Amino acid sequence: MIEIHNLSKTYAGGVQALTGIDLKIESGMFGLVGPNGAGKTSLMRILAGLLRVSSGSVSVFGQDMGTAAGKQTAKALLGYLPQELGFYPTLSAREFLDYMAILKGVTDKRLRQTQIEQLLEEVRLTDVADRRLKTFSGGMKRRVGIAQALLGNPKLLIVDEPTVGLDPEERVRFRNLLSGMAKRCTVILSTHIVEDISHSCNDLAVMSKGRVIFRGAPAELVQQARGNVFTVLLRDEPPDGGLSVVSTLQMTDGVQYRVLGKPDGRYEAKPIEPSLEDGYIWLMQHAAQPTS
Ligand SMILES: Nc1ncnc2c1ncn2[C@@H]1O[C@H](COP(=O)(O)OP(=O)(O)OP(=O)(O)O)[C@@H](O)[C@H]1O
Ligand SMILES: [Mg+2]
Repeated sequence: MIEIHNLSKTYAGGVQALTGIDLKIESGMFGLVGPNGAGKTSLMRILAGLLRVSSGSVSVFGQDMGTAAGKQTAKALLGYLPQELGFYPTLSAREFLDYMAILKGVTDKRLRQTQIEQLLEEVRLTDVADRRLKTFSGGMKRRVGIAQALLGNPKLLIVDEPTVGLDPEERVRFRNLLSGMAKRCTVILSTHIVEDISHSCNDLAVMSKGRVIFRGAPAELVQQARGNVFTVLLRDEPPDGGLSVVSTLQMTDGVQYRVLGKPDGRYEAKPIEPSLEDGYIWLMQHAAQPTS
C-alpha cells in the first residue's frame, strides 16, 4: 500500500528532518511514534503529497509521489488531518465541511449533503453542527478535523498527533473512533503518547532524530524491555545506580518506584511484566545511535 525507499528530507534552512527511511505500510492501523522533532510530521506531509522529498522514493497505492500525475491520483484517495488544522472560526461545522468538500471536488450538492450528514453523525456532532467553530472545545474541533479528512471516502487516512490537547476521556473516545475507521480504510497515526497506539495499532514504527529505530508489532516493542523492569520500595531517597524511574506510587510504607535497568543488591527489587511504554523508553535509551 505504501512503500518508502531510502527517503531523506532536508529543509531549505539545512535541517535534515529525515534520513534513509525504509518503510512498507500495509492495511489496518499503523502507529508512528517518536519524541518532538523526530520527523513524524515531515514524513506524514510527504505521504500526503504536501512536501517534496530531497532523495529517495515514496509510492502510495502504487503511485509514485515524485511525479505530478502520481501525486494527484494518490491524493484523491487519501484524507489528512494535520497537526495544526486551520479552522474558519466564524463558520459552523456544517458550513466548514461543505466548504472542504467543495475543495475536495465533491461538486454535486446533494451528494455533499448526504456525505456531510453521515460524517457528522459518525463523529457525533450532529447536534452542534450549526454552531460556530470558535465555540467548539479541542475535542470537538478534532472530531470536525476527522470528519473533514474522511470527506470523499479516502482509502488512506493520515492523522498527525490527533490526541494532543484532549482530556483523558475524550482521548479514549477519539482512539475508539479511529479504531472504527481502521476497519474500512488504512489509518496512519502519529503520536508521542505510546498509550495512543497500545490498544489499536497492529503495526508500528518508532522514529528518533529522523530515523526509524524500530519497526514491528506492539508485542515486539514490549519485548525490548523484558527482564529490565522492576519495582522497588524505598522509604527515603529515590533509587540511583543507573536505574531510570518510569513512575512512582505512594504507599503507606514508602514510595514504590517502577524502574528500568538492573537493580543491584542494595535494592529489594521485584521483576514485573513490561508495558509498551517500558519497551518504548528502553528502546529510546538503548537504540544504537547511528554515526552517519
Ligand atoms: N518547515 C520547516 N523548515 C525547517 N525545519 C523544519 C520545518 N519543519 C520541521 N522542521 C525541522 O525538522 C525536524 C523534524 O520536525 P517534525 O515536525 O517533522 O517532527 P515531529 O516528529 O513531527 O515533531 P513534533 O512531535 O514536535 O510534532 C525538526 O528538527 C524540525 O525543527
Ligand atoms: Mg509533528
